[in-house]
Amino acid sequence: MDEEYDAIILGTGLKECVLSGLLSVSGKKVLHMDRNGYYGGACASMYLEQLFEHFGKKDCDVSGYGKSRNWNVDLIPKFLMADGVLVKLLIFTGVTRYLEFKQVDGSYVYKAGKVHKVPGTEAEALSSSLMGIFEKRRFRNLLQFAFKYEENIPSTHEGLDLTKVTMQQLYEKYSLDANVRDFVGHAIALYRDDNYITEPALATINRMKLYFNSIAKYQKSPYLYPLYGLGELPQGFARLSAIYGGTYMLNKPFEGITRAEDGSVTGVTSEGETAKCKIVVADPSYFPEKCKKAGQVVRAICLLQHPVPNTGNSQSSQIIIPQNQVGRKSDIYVLCVSFAHNVSAKDWYVALVSTTVETDNPEAELEPGMRLLGPVSEKFVSVSDLYVPTDDGKKDNIYVSASFDATTHFETTCEDIIKIYESITGHPFDFSELDKKLEEFKNLTEG
Ligand SMILES: *[C@@H]1O[C@H](CO)[C@@H](O)[C@H](O)[C@H]1NC(C)=O
Repeated sequence: MDEEYDAIILGTGLKECVLSGLLSVSGKKVLHMDRNGYYGGACASMYLEQLFEHFGKKDCDVSGYGKSRNWNVDLIPKFLMADGVLVKLLIFTGVTRYLEFKQVDGSYVYKAGKVHKVPGTEAEALSSSLMGIFEKRRFRNLLQFAFKYEENIPSTHEGLDLTKVTMQQLYEKYSLDANVRDFVGHAIALYRDDNYITEPALATINRMKLYFNSIAKYQKSPYLYPLYGLGELPQGFARLSAIYGGTYMLNKPFEGITRAEDGSVTGVTSEGETAKCKIVVADPSYFPEKCKKAGQVVRAICLLQHPVPNTGNSQSSQIIIPQNQVGRKSDIYVLCVSFAHNVSAKDWYVALVSTTVETDNPEAELEPGMRLLGPVSEKFVSVSDLYVPTDDGKKDNIYVSASFDATTHFETTCEDIIKIYESITGHPFDFSELDKKLEEFKNLTEG
């Protein structure tokens, strides 16, 4: 290991893999190591026996679950927004050539004890069971405004400067009640709390547009999920890395780092050897001393023999339970995937219920979500500490990601990836450049 690397990446979680891919594509020499013998770290995918063993149920009889090799259960499943940043980064790095994505059937929201489809088009808004007749029209008016709104075209602004007007003011202008605000903020704009209401409305309108543009691509829902589960992603990045002369190594114990006099990292030691590097990117488990605990997440992975009730027999779906609907401070998330995405044996479904822990009885907090699932054949519950880095890494060139939160989509994951990438490069991420490059790719592949 006497070569010098631009970057050494520790851990093969999704955030580390995307950053590794971005660095490789920009010509950096990358060494990627994981202390585990499997890919994915905290968000690994598991075969059926592995899953039972992971949760201390090694002696359970698994003969009733169909072919074991058909199972690929994510410990932390999440959906990708079809028009979102993660999909763009996957296309940009070229890792999509190793993966196959399939749309998710349905996007739902919980209101007053019932599950409702999140309206993704004007027609759906007008036929939605979520709202009364007058509310529907007012919501449609907001939708039309959002669809039309272009940041750089003042004639679409209807006299509203959304960098100043707050979302509260916009809701008031369209006379939208608390129920509509709940599903707009939490199931469409995907906010985790209500702080956005007092912020300028532009960010929320952009998030609404992301949701609707994503739906427009695939009709049923704005979400995508890879065939065979999220475990395919790190493996795709490992194959990609090889093309750029990078190296992925599993089963590499982490034995510490070396530093220069000014404290900046100069190398990573494993099995008695030190590989030199300029920067290190790592998941929080490698540098607990550079992290602080920021709460906990409770998750229940449930195996079902039926789709989630009230989702129109969706073989994959997400239900968001906004905090206000169940008197909580954090939303509860329900996600369901199945054999349709090749993550379970035929006719089996894998559901996840998750939320941010607020009490000393975390499992009970999942109850409003669990109640939506119907009979559950097997349940695996975990409570994980959430770690966030205490600094941005610029001082010692060690960039640490945050743990995965309770959300069942990748939007917050992307924010973290972009934040770390900006710290590493020292300048803001150029999204318009990314869009331009993707457009060039498209022209190349179509022409
Ligand atoms: C993947 O799932 C589809 C749909 O259930 C099924 O037809 C196909 O055989 C599966 N592929 C493999 C390799 O198991």
